[in-house]
Amino acid sequence: MAHQYTLSIIKPNAVAKNVIGAICSRFETAGLEIVAASMLHLSREQACAFYGIHQGKPFFDELVGFMTSGPILAMVLAGDEAIARNRDIMGATNPANAAPGTIRADFADSFTANAVHGSDAPDTAAVEIAFFFPEGVCPRPR
Ligand code: TYD
Repeated sequence: MAHQYTLSIIKPNAVAKNVIGAICSRFETAGLEIVAASMLHLSREQACAFYGIHQGKPFFDELVGFMTSGPILAMVLAGDEAIARNRDIMGATNPANAAPGTIRADFADSFTANAVHGSDAPDTAAVEIAFFFPEGVCPRPR
């Protein structure tokens, strides 16, 4: 199994619901370690840049409006197969399709306000981690 890093975001609706601890607890229970963390309020420019791949899609404006509606917690999670492991416990992008017990099933409010982000592949994880943590992460002793 490959040791990986992945970018996680606790999105504004979940921060507003005060469930940061509940969500981080799920990461830790799944064997993922938090090796970087930053709480911030994205500007419109930052949100457009982060979700640049979705520019022009029908949901883009709503997505940017939501992601700039309040603070977020950006984190780097580390662990064996961290990218897929995180996506598994997040659940499907559309919370209507998210399996019971997943983060999105329990904490999403809508398709757009779906509580968490997680990188979907090693190349996007590297770009997304550098976006929030250009100074790098703080690996645990192994
Ligand atoms: P996407 O990158 O496809 O999903 P994921 O976050 O699971 O990697 O989409 C980015 C975000 O855009 C998604 O988390 C929620 C929002 N979104 C919508 O609001 N409507 C949509 O139809 C889609 C596809 C995404």
